[in-house]
Amino acid sequence: MAQFKELVFSGVQPTGNLHLGNYLGAIVKFVELQKSHDCIYCVVDLHAITVPQDPVQLTSSIREVTAAFIACGIDPKAHIIFNQSQVPEHAELAWVFNCVARLGWLNRMTQFKEKAGKDRENASVGLYAYPALMAADILVYRATHVPVGEDQKQHLELSRDIAQKFNNDFSESITRTGFGDAFFPLPEPLIQGPATRVMSLRDGTKKMSKSDPSDYSRINLTDDADAIAQKVRKAKTDPEPLPSEEEGLKPRPEADNLVGIYAALSGTTKAAVLQEFGGAQFSTFKSALVDLSVARLGPIGAEMKKLTGDPAYIDSVLADGSERAGAIARKTMDAVKDILGFIRH
Ligand code: TYM
Repeated sequence: MAQFKELVFSGVQPTGNLHLGNYLGAIVKFVELQKSHDCIYCVVDLHAITVPQDPVQLTSSIREVTAAFIACGIDPKAHIIFNQSQVPEHAELAWVFNCVARLGWLNRMTQFKEKAGKDRENASVGLYAYPALMAADILVYRATHVPVGEDQKQHLELSRDIAQKFNNDFSESITRTGFGDAFFPLPEPLIQGPATRVMSLRDGTKKMSKSDPSDYSRINLTDDADAIAQKVRKAKTDPEPLPSEEEGLKPRPEADNLVGIYAALSGTTKAAVLQEFGGAQFSTFKSALVDLSVARLGPIGAEMKKLTGDPAYIDSVLADGSERAGAIARKTMDAVKDILGFIRH
């Protein structure tokens, strides 16, 4: 298969309450990958409207995610930060992919089933077609690597299936238009480390999520030191001391989650954390976790506050990023039109 230049793409929805799961599962990786790759990070506002959004709130959420990217250490000059709706090629390629993806593929998506719930007839068509837009986000840049949390794995597999089917269906035209034996790369998910699925602090069997009605279920990136301390202290645990081996975490989802969070925040492994805290009571471990969380997240929250206080700066970052992203996306879309046989003027 053809060789593609390595390029990283990922996205985060501007739907309020960015939390520790988003940070450890995704944004920390975004920051790391800047060292080794060209990176494009997108605030996916088109995805947000697959469920109802308040327009005023949406505007501030877009700025908040942008601020989080910058506050966490993404460099908007060396890489690209932008909001999806400003590059119309995402929606354009998504339409093409709606015609490539099969109903049967989308019917298998567990996230749609979860989000649509029992009232499926009343879910938006956009929510159903969401994974085709996600494939377009990645492939409109012909990106090769996609850092995400565990919950996005199935969507990434679908993106690969769409890329593969497009390459197969149009193989002759792809060759004729000078793109060799494949036009789209099969994007690789990057799902690594001890916190690919951060769980709720209230229930170790439920994912930490923006939509959980209890704010005590998650640590928000904007929480201050007091809120972080309270949430960690109140986090559900069990009465046993921590085990010394990872094996001992298996039947203990809450312990497993807190150890995973500690490991990810300190850049080590669960095994290393248990070497230090094996045999300790939760009270001791939680105190250490509070200190670590406050040390890591406190400066991010403070920087986010500063940045969101200057919306003109945030908007200028998005405008600049959208322009640079758009230039890449337009080239891909022109090629796609040639491959499909459309006439361009
Ligand atoms: P979103 O906005 O729900 O989440 C953003 C990122 O955070 C990760 N994440 C988690 N990781 C670990 N533990 C958790 N509890 C947790 N909750 C969320 C998500 O896996 C994600 O990486 N569909 C995507 C956004 C998207 C996208 C894309 C991603 C749109 N287009 C193209 C990659 C490539 C979403 O809703 O993420």
